[in-house]
Amino acid sequence: PAALRVALLGAGTVGASVARLLGERAELLAARAGRPLELAGVAVRDTGRVRDGVDPALLTDDVEGLVERADLVVEVMGGLEPARGLIERALRRGVPVVTANKQLIAQQGPQLQAVADEHGAGLHYEAAVMAAVPVMAVVGESLAGDEIASISGIVNGSTNYVLDLVARKGVPFEEAVRQAGELGYLEADPTEDLEGLDAAAKIVILARTAWDLPVSMEDVQRQGITGLTDADFEQAAAHGSVIKLVASAWRSAAGGGDRVEVAVRPVALPQDDPLAQAREGTNVLIVEARSAGSLRLQGAGAGGDATASAVLGDIVRAARGR
Ligand code: NAP
Ligand code: HSE
Repeated sequence: PAALRVALLGAGTVGASVARLLGERAELLAARAGRPLELAGVAVRDTGRVRDGVDPALLTDDVEGLVERADLVVEVMGGLEPARGLIERALRRGVPVVTANKQLIAQQGPQLQAVADEHGAGLHYEAAVMAAVPVMAVVGESLAGDEIASISGIVNGSTNYVLDLVARKGVPFEEAVRQAGELGYLEADPTEDLEGLDAAAKIVILARTAWDLPVSMEDVQRQGITGLTDADFEQAAAHGSVIKLVASAWRSAAGGGDRVEVAVRPVALPQDDPLAQAREGTNVLIVEARSAGSLRLQGAGAGGDATASAVLGDIVRAARGR
């Protein structure tokens, strides 16, 4: 069969890993996808900069032209625009899209899904929530026949890394943030991580998927980790607790309605709490469902290769037409 031409939008932490792994795993991916995958081009802002694992001949700043000649678009550039417009353009042509962009999906997901449905194109975003941990498949597909009661977890790798280093190794806050950046965990604007906006976007996407109800970023009761003081960490340690940035969502009948409550906030947890044990960039999600009981999903929630793993899985899904 003819090769599937893949347009890669972005060659930063995630995009460079995707490009390299598409090359390294070409044979395996072709077998799983049912046809060879051909990297048609890689859109970046600065085409003069060399990127590990990316053939310089594939770099382009003509992102619209690249989207026009693709059979599948992978958006890992981040930000709302031009990413939203490019994705919509591809979907309107019936071209499937894979994205890791949680802010975009949290803010525009339902509108983009409507365009995808109208044009019979798949919109896939497993990588947007907890990177390598396949939570969207579990919440959206595997538990589709169950009744989910609540979802809670640590869904942001960089703040977990920072909190873990501060509490367990006594590393100063600013230094821990710098190290999280070096590992590729931070967003282009680190405020999104530190103020809980990244975790908020992920819990919004999960809640919407779990309950099929409208949930938006404005619904999230949100507090980040920048307001934490040395005294907070000392007090938690004195009580044998650990501070974690916890995201949670639950169904509520408060006020006689049927709605979803969503929150992101630092919580002091006992040492033996399953969420307290997540080290460094690890993410953990606990899903309580009526028949399934309590499920715990855990693994690498940030970083280039971990996120690329989910992107590649979605590329195969899209190529198979699922
Ligand atoms: P990044 O390192 O900042 O890379 C962004 C890439 O997109 C860069 O190559 C940049 O080009 C390119 N780009 C940005 N705006 C562009 C434009 N207007 N036209 C053409 N190219 C453009 O970001 P990242 O960490 O890889 O994250 C990418 C996306 O994945 C974000 O939505 C993020 O939330 C999501 N994500 C990241 C992780 C992670 O662990 N890093 C995990 C899950 C999801 P230049 O290189 O020329 O600047
Ligand atoms: N900045 C995000 C995090 C990347 O720290 O979890 C993964 O989505």
